[in-house]
Amino acid sequence: MKENVIFCYSGTGNCLDMAKNIAKRLGNTDIIMMRKYPAVTDVREAKRVGFVVPCYGGGLPGYVERYIRDIKVSPDAYTFGIGQCAAYKGEGLSKINSIIPLKYWAVVTHQCTCIWLFPHDLMMPKMGAKEAQARSEFFAEKIAKDIKNNATTRKKLSKAIINKAEHAAWPKIARKKGQTLKANDNCIMCGTCAKVCPTGNIRYAGKAVVFSDKCISCCACVQYCPQEAINFGKITEKRERYHNVNITVDDLNQEIISF
Ligand SMILES: Cc1cc2nc3c(=O)[nH]c(=O)nc-3n(C[C@H](O)[C@H](O)[C@H](O)COP(=O)(O)O)c2cc1C
Repeated sequence: MKENVIFCYSGTGNCLDMAKNIAKRLGNTDIIMMRKYPAVTDVREAKRVGFVVPCYGGGLPGYVERYIRDIKVSPDAYTFGIGQCAAYKGEGLSKINSIIPLKYWAVVTHQCTCIWLFPHDLMMPKMGAKEAQARSEFFAEKIAKDIKNNATTRKKLSKAIINKAEHAAWPKIARKKGQTLKANDNCIMCGTCAKVCPTGNIRYAGKAVVFSDKCISCCACVQYCPQEAINFGKITEKRERYHNVNITVDDLNQEIISF
């Protein structure tokens, strides 16, 4: 086991890019992905254990909370949580903090990946993809320095009570939205959508792409489709696609990424 471990969920790359930028600077680090059940959950040998996660509908994405409940961390470990969001952090980090107390936490806004809700540049502060990426890299460097120094965040994590109701309703909203997913005639059956889907919600039946009812609305199928053939109904037809410029489908599908 490496000295440092970072558990990361990422739908469209922003969080994995952040985790990699931190890991690169820390060295001796394993990034353990949580798009599926993590390959390792007992990390009691690690000296530093962190989480890099996005905010989805005011809270943690998909099944991440369930996975984190299984993670075993040494009581002596230095712990940290980094949240990425378009505008507000929601209750995700405070949920992690209630399961595994965090010594250090920070939130960085990045492009909005929820394409059916907003165009990607509708983040706080509003900016385009290049600028947002440069800003995220700037913060990654600062955060890595803090983590190296075992810094603590004095400000308490708020319980984000306002986001509780939003997040409780989220799985149903996501599933319903997922039922509007369709691939159009530009589809070349390349397999990208099925490969990038974290819940195995997409399969091919003959010449049709079939979406099941397990969508968590990560939007990766829409954002990574090389033909821009997948849409949530009509609302995303003219919307520009976005995924993190440094992160490929293969990167997202790794179980453990070592530095
Ligand atoms: C389904 C979904 C829901 C989201 N909900 C929120 C939200 O409640 N608040 C927010 O500020 N950003 C929200 N976002 C934006 C993401 O948190 C942000 O784009 C993040 O950088 C995505 O990270 P990723 O590319 O690693 O998945 C949402 C994105 C998605 C796909």
